[in-house]
Amino acid sequence: MDTAATPRKIEHQQTDRGYVPVYATGVVEQPWADYSRTDHQVWDTLFKRQCEMLPGRACQEFLDGVAKFGLGSGGIPRFADINRVLTRATGWELVAVEGLLPDEVFFDHLAHRRFPVSWWIRKPDQLDYLSEPDLFHDLFGHVPLLLNPVFADYMQAYGRGGMKAHAVGPEALMNLTRLYWYTVEFGLIHTPQGMRIYGAGIVSSKGESTYSLDSDAPNRIGFGLERVMNTRYRIDTYQQTYFVIDSFEQLFEATTPDFTPIYARLCGATAHAAAEVLDDTDRVYHHGSHEGFATDADT
Ligand SMILES: [Fe+2]
Repeated sequence: MDTAATPRKIEHQQTDRGYVPVYATGVVEQPWADYSRTDHQVWDTLFKRQCEMLPGRACQEFLDGVAKFGLGSGGIPRFADINRVLTRATGWELVAVEGLLPDEVFFDHLAHRRFPVSWWIRKPDQLDYLSEPDLFHDLFGHVPLLLNPVFADYMQAYGRGGMKAHAVGPEALMNLTRLYWYTVEFGLIHTPQGMRIYGAGIVSSKGESTYSLDSDAPNRIGFGLERVMNTRYRIDTYQQTYFVIDSFEQLFEATTPDFTPIYARLCGATAHAAAEVLDDTDRVYHHGSHEGFATDADT
């Protein structure tokens, strides 16, 4: 039978939002033998599509990572093969999970250099949009940069920071989540060759791979730690602002100090809207036209 593998991911639990499906949080074996021909074809289609588009758009570190893992269009990779390369290079390993994890479980994995990857892949009618991360997003989007030693250290530091923020409270956690969103998921990097993508949410999306660099609509603003941590974002559309780092070293160094004083400063402060440009303080690469932007649905 050639139907796509169905995630064994849902448990129903009573929560403060009612009786809702949540994910099992344990680490599982990647059920590689259960992937259908359709699953492998979905990987191949997405892989080919992104690889045609990303040279000259994604940063070289990302493209090098894809090549070094030997990722290709020969079907869904085996996590064990990836881990043989990854663990030797930077001490990270992939672990297979059923889906999105609660914050504290996710942070604990990162703090121990384990990157959780959803084992299931989207269906053929979901190539362009998926509301939750699947194997393609997690593996193709996130894992190549884990071969870069500086970025690998940044990810671990983020996990440790997350555990601290979780203890501080929900507002600190929100500040930190924005940092992840605007760097790990939707970050751009300024290189001598020009503006490039490193965020996993962009490199795994056909539409945003062009929009983020080419569209006149969004802002592109130089990275500032506190600026990012105090800026809302969009989860339902392409981003209205992209923050641009100069190097992974800059990102790592900016995020090394203890965030406690920042959390204290931002506590109760009004957050910036996703599309806002701060004329006095922002280093503006591009002031977006904001064409077509809705302004009432920032997260
Ligand atoms: Fe992601």
